[in-house]
Amino acid sequence: MVAAFTYEALPARVRFGSGTLACLPDELDRAGKRRALVLSTPQQRDQAERVAALIGPRAAGIFSDATMHTPVGVTRAALDAARSLDADCTVAVGGGSTTGLGKAVALRTGLMQFVVPTTYAGSEMTPILGQTEDGRKTTQRDAAILPEVVIYDVDLTIGLPADLSATSGMNAIAHAVEALYARDRNPIISLMAEDAIRALARALPAIAAHPADPQARSDALYGAFLCGCCLGAVGMALHHKLCHVIGGSFDLPHAQTHTIILPHATAYNAAAEPEAMARIAAALGADDAAQGLYDLAGRIGAPRALRDLGMPEAAIDQAAREAVQNPYWNPRAIEPEPIRALIARAWAGLPPLGA
Ligand SMILES: [Fe+2]
Repeated sequence: MVAAFTYEALPARVRFGSGTLACLPDELDRAGKRRALVLSTPQQRDQAERVAALIGPRAAGIFSDATMHTPVGVTRAALDAARSLDADCTVAVGGGSTTGLGKAVALRTGLMQFVVPTTYAGSEMTPILGQTEDGRKTTQRDAAILPEVVIYDVDLTIGLPADLSATSGMNAIAHAVEALYARDRNPIISLMAEDAIRALARALPAIAAHPADPQARSDALYGAFLCGCCLGAVGMALHHKLCHVIGGSFDLPHAQTHTIILPHATAYNAAAEPEAMARIAAALGADDAAQGLYDLAGRIGAPRALRDLGMPEAAIDQAAREAVQNPYWNPRAIEPEPIRALIARAWAGLPPLGA
């Protein structure tokens, strides 16, 4: 028997493959767009220029000041550029920062978004936007935020550094893991989540060994796409709350923090969600979901201890206190002592409890 569920499909046109960037001019023509504002970070300006050259007269200009956490000041500058260039769409080339800027522009203007992802962030498949203003971060969900056309070109990910591929991939897996035990889980997204974990668990060790392996890069990008679908469709739980608290308070790098916390958050929820755990373990090819994630991180050379990211040991108590504040949904109740123990193990780099 299938349990009752609600499933809302998110409309997006996706092109996946090797060399698919070459489809971009056709995709713009198909949508009737003639004046694209190409977006990138300063570091990826050369890729933005390549894309502008590819679309030729359809490029209205380049705005290459996208930055982490989507500061509203940068968005205003991009809006000025879009207005003065009379842009009728954006083409975001890059990772979460650039996609975020395209979303922020779309939210305020309704401009159609084309996204060419170059990392495994998955943000391109979600109607979610986090923005910062005066040091405060706010997150919102709105149908206008969801990009309309996403072009996944495996070739653009071949050069993604091995360490970044590892943590970006584990950060993506976290969305699939939490989707399998989400409060609003549904059988369609669970299928995507399981296959996402399977694809990434297969690909990431291969990438660690041979970063330019085209087959592994294809699997990883496909897995990342599915993980993005999971994040866009269902709510996240303990793992994301912990990463938000710990990463935010101690200014730790995002993907690394997610990589370290994931096995421990999974272990915390294991007894409450045996079916989700069985699916995660099967997808990992492991006996145990949490231990399998910990082993995967080890195999791909990803960090496994918060102390290695520079979090002081004395901060464990503060993190534990903040993590139990503002009650939020999680399959297992949030209890102060086990949460503190979880953070302490993650800090020390120990295997997840109970595995
Ligand atoms: Fe996330």
